[in-house]
Amino acid sequence: MNTFLIVFLITSPFLFTAAFAGISAAPWLPTKRGDREHMLSKLQINQGMKIIDLGSGDGSVLFALARQHKNATFIGYEISLLPLLVSVLRKYFGGYKNVSFKCQNLFRANLDGVDIVFVFLLDKSYPKLAKKFTAELSDSSRVIVEAWPIEAIEPKKVFKEKKRLPIFVYEGKAFRRK
Ligand SMILES: C[S@@+](CC[C@H](N)C(=O)[O-])C[C@H]1O[C@@H](n2cnc3c(N)ncnc32)[C@H](O)[C@@H]1O
Repeated sequence: MNTFLIVFLITSPFLFTAAFAGISAAPWLPTKRGDREHMLSKLQINQGMKIIDLGSGDGSVLFALARQHKNATFIGYEISLLPLLVSVLRKYFGGYKNVSFKCQNLFRANLDGVDIVFVFLLDKSYPKLAKKFTAELSDSSRVIVEAWPIEAIEPKKVFKEKKRLPIFVYEGKAFRRK
């Protein structure tokens, strides 16, 4: 076996899953620390809550929350193998017992009993996501969307600050009010 073939066989799962993610919903672009802190400062997390990140990248958003909220559960859905590997290593070396990651297509995520959903994806994914939220989210759940609003759904709150990505907060029930 020549070197080129070995390199191809090792890297291709990473390249193909990254390409699939980019086409499907968004490439890996981590939320910047300042944007993350701004977004997380607007949230109220209670004991026992279940919080998921659809397209969790390297897990930074979930780890930042998990450090402050030991009694909540955090689940990241990620299909691209490189960021998934980084997040799994961070979980084990950081000892985050309340954070887990699933190597799964975010459009097939289990939203049962979820209290907060994070979305930092390209807006091309919104129509499919909105259908999923309509069918699966409870009325009281919240969807936190970074960067672009979900058209046709009324946000409960919008946070816009200079030099920060805008944050849109939707209630689960808003998806059934269209
Ligand atoms: C813009 S990044 C956001 C990462 C992270 N949520 C953050 O804020 O730092 C979007 C992530 O979604 C992942 N992704 C895109 N399509 C996906 C799919 N169909 N299923 C699971 N993950 C996906 C990408 O691999 C990427 O890591």
